[in-house]
Amino acid sequence: MALVNSKEMFKKAYEGGYAIGAFNVNNMEIIQGITEAAMAENAPLILQVSSGARNYAKHVYLMKLIEAAIEDTGLPICVHLDHGDTFELCKSCIDGGFTSVMIDGSHHSFEDNIKLTKQVVEYAHAHGVTVEGELGRLAGIEDAVNVSAEDASYTDPGQVQEFVERTGVDSLAIAIGTSHGAYKFKPGQKPQLRFDILEDIQKRLPGFPIVLHGASSVMPEYVKMINENGGKMPDAIGIPEEMLRKAASMAVCKINIDSDLRLAMTGSIRKYFAEHPDHFDPRQYLKPARANIKSLVQHKLVNVLGCNGKA
Ligand code: G3H
Ligand code: 13P
Ligand code: ZN
Repeated sequence: MALVNSKEMFKKAYEGGYAIGAFNVNNMEIIQGITEAAMAENAPLILQVSSGARNYAKHVYLMKLIEAAIEDTGLPICVHLDHGDTFELCKSCIDGGFTSVMIDGSHHSFEDNIKLTKQVVEYAHAHGVTVEGELGRLAGIEDAVNVSAEDASYTDPGQVQEFVERTGVDSLAIAIGTSHGAYKFKPGQKPQLRFDILEDIQKRLPGFPIVLHGASSVMPEYVKMINENGGKMPDAIGIPEEMLRKAASMAVCKINIDSDLRLAMTGSIRKYFAEHPDHFDPRQYLKPARANIKSLVQHKLVNVLGCNGKA
C-alpha cells in the first residue's frame, strides 16, 4: 500500500458516518505510536506536518519516517501539510511528496482567500494532491498561528458554496467553536459546538467533506499525569468526545488532533522521571511515551472517530 491522497478516504468516511483521524507528527516515536495504533485497529490514517514540525525535524526526515511506517504497517496513509500559509510552502510540500495540503487563507479577505486557495488547488490537482481550504477563524495558539478569542469567528454558511465552487477545494475546514491548544473553554463554561452551523453547511454542500481543527479532547488523565508530576497546567479543558463523535457521524470527515498527543507524551515523560530520577537513557523514557500515544490513538480511532476496521 502506497501513500494516498484524501479523496477516497473522505468519500468512504462521508458515506460510512465516520471520520479520519489527522494526527500531527514531529518525531519518530510519535509516528510509531500513531501508526502502530492504526495498524492494530486497521484504520485509514492522515499524518499531518505543520510548518513548525517541518522546521524542527526537516521535511526529508519526516517523509522518510512516514515511508518507513507505511512499509512497516502496510496501511493507506495520507501525508498532509497542516496550516500551509503560502503558495510556496504548499508547492514545496507537494514537490517533496506530500499527498495532501491545507492552504489556510482564513486570515485573508474572502476574495484574497479564494485567489490564494485557487492557485494552490491548480498546482496540487495537476500533481494528484488534494487540498483543504478554510473559512472562519479558530481561536488558539500554535507555532505559526496565534488568534485571540476576539479575532476568532464562526464560519458563515452563506459563503461556503461560493468558496468551494470558485476554488475547487476537496475539503473545507470550518469554525464552529473548537480552538487550538489545551485551553479551549474556561472553567465553569459549558463546552458547546455550533452544530446548527455544521448542519446548515452540510445542507448547502451535500456530500462534501468538512474538517474540524482544534479537536483534541484534552484528556483529563494526561492533564492529571502532568500536574501530578511537576507540571502546571491548571484548567486545561478540551472538546467533549461525544460532541466529536456526533460531528464525525455528520459531514465531518477529518478530525485534527495534536494537543492530546503532546499531553500524553509530556505526561508520560514527566511521570517516568518522577519515578526514575537517576535514569538518563532516552530509550527508557520515550518507550512509555510511545506506548501511551499508541493507546490514546487506539481510543480515538474506536470511540471518537469510528474508523476502526475501515482501512
Ligand atoms: O494546529 C496546529 C498544530 O497543533 C500544529 O502546531 O504549529 O506548533 O506545530 P505547531
Ligand atoms: P488541537 O490543538 O485541538 O489538537 O488541534 C490540532 C489542530 O487543529 C491541528 O491543525
Ligand atoms: Zn489546526
